[in-house]
Amino acid sequence: MTNKELKIAYQEFSSLDRLSAEDQTLAVAAIEATESSYAPYSQFNVGAAVMYEDGDIIKGANQENAAYPSGTCAERTALFYASASNPDKSIVAIAIAARQNGQLCKNPVTPCGACRQVMAQYQLKGGKPMRIILVGAAKIWKFEKVDDLLPFTFDSI
Ligand code: THU
Repeated sequence: MTNKELKIAYQEFSSLDRLSAEDQTLAVAAIEATESSYAPYSQFNVGAAVMYEDGDIIKGANQENAAYPSGTCAERTALFYASASNPDKSIVAIAIAARQNGQLCKNPVTPCGACRQVMAQYQLKGGKPMRIILVGAAKIWKFEKVDDLLPFTFDSI
């Protein structure tokens, strides 16, 4: 038997202006995207913004449904839309933000397992690391690749 350990590397920033200009733009787009959230059940307004390799940005927000499982998280809305709109462009980054009662959440929102799996798929499809920026009002977390949020990803059939 061998004991093994896995380390996850990420960076924490105290405010948006500490990010690179590109990451800042994407983080702001994620905050803006919260405005398009349709969350009549949870009142939890999540926005996501994805960046293609050429710098273009696509936004998405969570869309809820009276039949709960039919709703979709912000991350998947943005990723599916981005891939369906430009199937040949790699997605190199995603930023996520959330609001409650109109206020940007204090702590970064961490994506659900299903969204992490979808991120992993588009990272695989694009062939480039996809960085993840989780935006909170009090702190921002940055991961360099999806593997850092979803180790031992299922990626082969
Ligand atoms: N949600 C997201 O859109 N992204 C996340 O990372 C976490 C959860 C949505 C799903 C649902 O509409 C609401 O937030 C409450 O769970």
